[in-house]
Amino acid sequence: MKHKRIVVTRYGGPDALQVVEEQCPTPSRGEVRVKVLAAGVSLPDIMAREGIHPETPPVPFTPGWDLVGVVDQVGPGVSGVEPGQAVAAMPIHGAWAEYVTLPEEALVPVPPGLDPAEAVSLVLNYITAYQMMHRSAAVKPGQRALVHGAAGGVGTALLQLGRLAGLEMYGTCSPRGAETVSRLGATPIDYGREDWVAEVHRLTGDGVDVVFDPIGGNHLWESRQTLRPGGVVVGYGLRSSVRGDGLVSQRSGRRHRFGGAARFALLIAAARLLPGRKRIVPYSIQTLLRMRPQWFRQDLVTLLELLQQRKVAPLVAERLPLAEARQALEVLGRGGVTGKIVLVDGAASPRAAAA
Ligand SMILES: NC(=O)c1ccc[n+]([C@@H]2O[C@H](COP(=O)([O-])OP(=O)(O)OC[C@H]3O[C@@H](n4cnc5c(N)ncnc54)[C@H](OP(=O)(O)O)[C@@H]3O)[C@@H](O)[C@H]2O)c1
Repeated sequence: MKHKRIVVTRYGGPDALQVVEEQCPTPSRGEVRVKVLAAGVSLPDIMAREGIHPETPPVPFTPGWDLVGVVDQVGPGVSGVEPGQAVAAMPIHGAWAEYVTLPEEALVPVPPGLDPAEAVSLVLNYITAYQMMHRSAAVKPGQRALVHGAAGGVGTALLQLGRLAGLEMYGTCSPRGAETVSRLGATPIDYGREDWVAEVHRLTGDGVDVVFDPIGGNHLWESRQTLRPGGVVVGYGLRSSVRGDGLVSQRSGRRHRFGGAARFALLIAAARLLPGRKRIVPYSIQTLLRMRPQWFRQDLVTLLELLQQRKVAPLVAERLPLAEARQALEVLGRGGVTGKIVLVDGAASPRAAAA
């Protein structure tokens, strides 16, 4: 049987992506073949295409951090899952394919009846948001939070989980995202027009307890200026390195993949040395997945339950077929996307498929 997958042939812009058709993979011992129903599109995929994400594999590789699908075939020695079962996984790369093979232990069961596109939004975006909020910052009801990129994939997840956690929230966004940010319970701040540090102080008086910052670089330092004493900035991305279809630096390639980390380390150290008890801490889902795999599983199960109870409702910005992966990254890179773009299996009925 043949299947299609997306391949990054070299590090660079949208032209680096190709659709290839080849023989379906066969699961080895301990592996499961999954038919992918929904695969997430996120900023780390642009960074991997350009070669600058720390997790970038050597070319050629298939991108795609997260997926929801149905077990299609099990390899020898697999006993915990059976064909037809809906599952979720975060392989970090490889999800942009019609079929993937994964170790059995990488799979988390998905309850029946969930929309695969909504369920896949939980994997990278909501686990990131949940772990930053409850494991890195350990937020308490009544605290104030500033969420940057508040209309984006992780941003909207932070706002939905922040509301459940009883936080008072402020969210930076462009004007296109302001209505969504208000609807999700935060006060929108236009980062392009306003001096957002001054605006946070004007709105709150003495600042916020926690800032979630995906922008990186000097922006982390400005975020620190909005903190109350004892507050923390959780830094988790380098949005500032991507502009439109490519990189601000225009320097693609894997040798640049740790460039952002060195600067990050400097800022963390400087924040510790200065008085005021205002910390900057890093968050990385892949590091925590490797160090504490049980947390990843536990947190995803919690989030799937919240989705079943409709206590969270991921915003799916667009559902595109796998063959349009290139366009999906172009749309995301241009900005102004509210929520998450998802690549869906064209043949699957969105709601019935994972039932
Ligand atoms: N550390 C981890 O484990 C981890 C996990 C997942 C994601 N991430 C990181 O999280 C970041 C966000 O990913 P995503 O998939 O959620 O991306 P996304 O959907 O593109 O969201 C990013 C948002 O940032 C906004 N934005 C851009 N520049 C901004 C600025 N200067 N100030 C405030 N907002 C700004 C954009 O709004 P407009 O387009 O309207 O300007 C957009 O809504 C990326 O840097 C990614 O690498 C990290």
